[in-house]
Amino acid sequence: MTSDESSNSRSNLAQLGVLVLAAGRGTRMKSRTPKVLHPILGKPMLDHVLACAAALDPDEIVVVTDPASSSPIGNAISAHIAIQQIPLGTADAVAVGLDALEIEAGTVLVLNGDVPLIRPGSLQAIVDGHRTGQATITLATFSAASKTRYGSIQRRDGRVFGIVEAADDDRASLDTIEANGGIYAFDLGWLRRHIGDVRVSASGEYYLTSLIATLARSTEDPAAIETVELEETELLGVDDRHRLATAEAILRQRILFQHMAAGVTIVDPDRTVVERDVQIEADARIEPGCFLRGTTVIRNGATVGPYSVVESSTIGCDAQVLQSWVTEATIGDRVRVGPFARIRPGSAIEPDVHIGNFVETKATHIGSGSHVHHFSYLGDAELGTNVNVGAGTITCNYDGVNKHRTIIGDDVFVGCDTMLVAPVELGSGSKTGAGAVVTRSVPAGMTVVGIPARPIESRKNSTTQGEHGR
Ligand code: UD1
Repeated sequence: MTSDESSNSRSNLAQLGVLVLAAGRGTRMKSRTPKVLHPILGKPMLDHVLACAAALDPDEIVVVTDPASSSPIGNAISAHIAIQQIPLGTADAVAVGLDALEIEAGTVLVLNGDVPLIRPGSLQAIVDGHRTGQATITLATFSAASKTRYGSIQRRDGRVFGIVEAADDDRASLDTIEANGGIYAFDLGWLRRHIGDVRVSASGEYYLTSLIATLARSTEDPAAIETVELEETELLGVDDRHRLATAEAILRQRILFQHMAAGVTIVDPDRTVVERDVQIEADARIEPGCFLRGTTVIRNGATVGPYSVVESSTIGCDAQVLQSWVTEATIGDRVRVGPFARIRPGSAIEPDVHIGNFVETKATHIGSGSHVHHFSYLGDAELGTNVNVGAGTITCNYDGVNKHRTIIGDDVFVGCDTMLVAPVELGSGSKTGAGAVVTRSVPAGMTVVGIPARPIESRKNSTTQGEHGR
């Protein structure tokens, strides 16, 4: 062997592939949606498995799915997909995955797509232990009630010699079993050589788990099969709606505890939902009844809730979002929103703005220090700094065909119940009277009133002329 070949084969041995088994609709779900696409905390179950696998930075990940699910799965996640034509069992799914996997040697992690709560640290520990101990198969196990549907690890004198599936097992006399968690590290070369050895079981399926007995029969090496015991909460197999709800509850609590450990106050963890990719800085306070979703960021000292929904938005330092709904928006430092405001996509609210009850904004930029306290709609608008928007103000941004913009300069005073018929611009320091319908742009410093709104001086003159006429 040349030195190049030897370093190549060493680097091959360090390679890591991942197969995620995700074929089959999951009949117990009783659903049109493939089992692995059912969401847990806003992300498909499979996405959680893939995110965990990706944290190990593997050389390759292949997801095995069935023909009917391949398109919805392909639309929901980005992954290399291999199709198992007929769901003949987990060993057959692995055979399909191995055909699609390019790496030849090293370690392959086989993950069940319906075991979504595994943590990256645990997966890494499985791979590290497997490599250090030079095992051929390493399995994740946990202690489970015997009446559950998991495969049961069989040991003699402490050594694993097989796995018996629930369908083929009489466990009536046992309270608990050592359950197979459905997560395995295999020596890839060994798996490629032996996957074809699996024989069909009494239930008509090709069980991946039968390879444990195959290996145990063929070796005296006590280190060939290793187990890593994990908590049940990491290995929950989600195959019905009850377990789906259990998984959601476990993940929700896990995420909340991480935030609390990092200095975030979660007033009532039983009534708070924070999705996986949300970031919350220390000293933020999340009041009861909040849903923080997507890529939301809550900055230091902000208070959200009670009862707010924040979706893929940033809430600035020391800002407050009281009982409001915020979607794809940026809320600046010290801004007060709500109660009962709706901040829609494309809203950018600069620091020290107050947005009060029953205010809706969309694709609107509001300059710092501005106030929009009550019952307003601001759509496709640009507001300067220190603007006061009176109650009931509406940007009439849609003419039935097109959307138009409203521009409001610095220090403008918009009177109550003003209709701003876009496209229209209020120059800096201008004012509108209560009930004005502004159809033309207003120069800086001017005050307009009436329907349609006119400069206050010309309005006075025309009224005077009218009186003369009578
Ligand atoms: C499997 C294990 C069991 C273990 C449990 C842990 C087998 C035979 N049994 O049982 O020992 O305790 O996981 O959760 O492996 N799949 C395919 N193609 C198929 C069949 C299944 O891709 O033909 C996928 C499924 O989408 C699922 C995973 O493999 O994500 C597990 O399959 P499933 O039939 O649900 O096995 P379990 O009964 O969970």
